[in-house]
Amino acid sequence: TVTSDIRKGLNGVVVDYTAISKVNPETNSLLYRGYPVQELAAQCSFEEVAYLLWHGELPTPAERAAFEASERALRALSPAVQAVIDLTPTTAHPMDVVRTAVSLIGASDPDAENDTREANLAKSLRLFAQLPAIVAYDQRRRRGQELIAPRDDLDYSSNFLFMAFGEVPAPAVVDAFRVSMVLYAEHSFNASTFTARVITSTLSDLYSAVTGAIGALKGPLHGGANEAVMHIFNEIGDAAAAEGWLEGALTEKRKIMGFGHRVYKDGDSRVPTMKTALDTLIEHYDRPALLSLYTTLELAMTERKGILPNLDYPSGPAYHLMGFDTAAFTPLFVAARITGWTAHIMEQLESNALIRPLSAYNGPDERHLAAA
Ligand code: CMC
Repeated sequence: TVTSDIRKGLNGVVVDYTAISKVNPETNSLLYRGYPVQELAAQCSFEEVAYLLWHGELPTPAERAAFEASERALRALSPAVQAVIDLTPTTAHPMDVVRTAVSLIGASDPDAENDTREANLAKSLRLFAQLPAIVAYDQRRRRGQELIAPRDDLDYSSNFLFMAFGEVPAPAVVDAFRVSMVLYAEHSFNASTFTARVITSTLSDLYSAVTGAIGALKGPLHGGANEAVMHIFNEIGDAAAAEGWLEGALTEKRKIMGFGHRVYKDGDSRVPTMKTALDTLIEHYDRPALLSLYTTLELAMTERKGILPNLDYPSGPAYHLMGFDTAAFTPLFVAARITGWTAHIMEQLESNALIRPLSAYNGPDERHLAAA
């Protein structure tokens, strides 16, 4: 059936089923495979959450040990990936580096075209294991620092921070990082996941779908918002300037980054958990002024527009406090969302239909060239 009811941005349109996650704006909840994300963030490692998203169940202790061992064995960058990162100019956005590195990993995989579930699980694990090294090394080379090889005695989060900074930070910092990864892992048919599903629906390969998803995530209306939040914090300076800044920005009809959501209108279910992690970091690094700016802008935006923060609002300053460059924030989102994207790619293949919507033409009526 053809419908001419056009919904810009597919707003409110249900496109397909998914068993991976459930976003419920009415109850302000988000479930991964049935589990509330807050419970997963409180009790599970990021590795367990990745396993859950891919397999539908949390791992048994034996499955967890085997999964962790296989992830740890795949962490190191190949010389080719390191070389392609080195070749990419540092004027490029770090998201372009991640996109290029993933593209090379795909082009180098002799099994790239094999779309069995088993092969796609292996590819997903490879990307999951290698993205931290890509993100950490790109930041290091921009700072004129050497590559740090992964350590297989560390869990995912500790190793990620070790490769980025050369030391494992305090447990509170590692934990805040782990929480951010769990919260960013999956969010149903968001723009980048949908992009991955569209690409997969043509029976293209998993790496192509992930490369496209990275492109979609880069935009400031989606993943790029976490770094944009830090830019506005820098622009504002301190809490005393927040209300005046907001007034000016709204007059200019600017979108305030880190606020608003297509699905949640009464608040993003992930924000309270990430805000608690941010509070821990603010205390750990003793940065009350940052909290004050955060709170003042949030209050002003809520009072002025009734628009609430999304996950990018607390995660941007959290990554800043951990010591990441602002431009590396969205690549951190990639490292987390690779789990959700690949789960969706595999789900799409299980009951695939080419995604090919229609358009309503509103160009010139039929016309003809003058006779030659
Ligand atoms: N700042 C100012 N006004 C806003 C904002 C905002 N952040 N968000 C929504 N509005 C206004 C918007 O201008 C519109 O007003 P009006 O009806 O007067 O034109 C009204 O609220 C409805 O907004 P919309 O743009 O139709 O809503 P949408 O569902 O298309 O947009 C959004 C959702 C996320 C694109 C938007 O809220 C936005 O641009 N936010 C800032 C960017 C951002 O933080 N993105 C991260 C999204 S969540 C996590 C992620 O994916 O990374």
